[in-house]
Amino acid sequence: MSEYASADHAQEVTRDLSARQEESAQRVRQERIGAACLKRTRAFGKLILFGEHFVVYKAPALVGAVAAYTDCDVEFTGAPGIEVVDLRPAVPGYKVEKAAEGEEAVKIVLSHLGVDTEKRGAKITFGGSLTAVSGIGASAAQVVSLARALSAALPRTLSEEEVNAAGYEGEKGYHGTPSGVDNTAATYGGVLRFQRTDGAPLFTMKKLAGPIRIVYASTGITASTTKVVGDVKAKKEADEAWFGSLLARYTALAAEGEAALDAGDMAALGRLLDENHALCQELTVSCKELDDLVVAARGAGAVGAKMSGTGRGGLMLALTPTAESQAAVAKALEKLAPQVWMTTFA
Ligand code: MEV
Repeated sequence: MSEYASADHAQEVTRDLSARQEESAQRVRQERIGAACLKRTRAFGKLILFGEHFVVYKAPALVGAVAAYTDCDVEFTGAPGIEVVDLRPAVPGYKVEKAAEGEEAVKIVLSHLGVDTEKRGAKITFGGSLTAVSGIGASAAQVVSLARALSAALPRTLSEEEVNAAGYEGEKGYHGTPSGVDNTAATYGGVLRFQRTDGAPLFTMKKLAGPIRIVYASTGITASTTKVVGDVKAKKEADEAWFGSLLARYTALAAEGEAALDAGDMAALGRLLDENHALCQELTVSCKELDDLVVAARGAGAVGAKMSGTGRGGLMLALTPTAESQAAVAKALEKLAPQVWMTTFA
């Protein structure tokens, strides 16, 4: 499908120096085997350009899928129970911190798709090229790839809508009230405008005027989406007027952001990403580590930079208009961040 092709064409370079140094040769070998052996059940990672947290409250978001993906293989076994083999590359600490939520998410997807593992067991293997890190939508990529693997293993093939719906259910294992933006990006790829509604979400694939070059970097901090989304909810309930004014400012900004994206106006897009970061700061979901990376990226030539995803750790992204500025910003961020990547939405 063209949506997949557009994300596939994106160039992704992983510069995961410190994490790579820490991995043993054995682990790297295992991951390669995992990636090579798994059937093609791709579910993409994502970067939110506009709208994390506000999207939970039905404001539109713009999200881009990265080229890196999670794959999954499901094998039904004779003995009841679930065995999960997780060969995904991950930043240090991520898998341990997310273990209980991941287990719950896998159970939800299996049950949603009618698999009773008390009757027949399942060995589920995750692999692929996406590094599991807070902010990249690793949980959504995991549950969507599981839905794709089950679609291949079960008698009935799931439609894309059903895969996405199973991913949405699975996301609830990671945090109770997902907006659906991450699983939708994981399922369809490309750059999407996404909006939650009282019914089915609305989303459209964006046609880009030109390539959008991004550098993204990890703070090294694994964030709890449940906690941060819960804190925002509590703050909103404590002061609806404050939240309402932030949401109104965000909604106006998102409309300008979409117009800049449509026009391929990188300078305007960058300025609006900066403004979105400022709104995230007001919402208290940024943190010093994210703010420092954002400032460094701007200083190194990014036309805009913001946190991306849950915040209070996780990832930031920087918009770089040329391949040269992309390389320069990545180099600058490598001095501060434990992991830095480059991707291009095309
Ligand atoms: C997480 O990637 C994005 C949040 O807005 C949560 C959600 O939309 O479900 C923080």
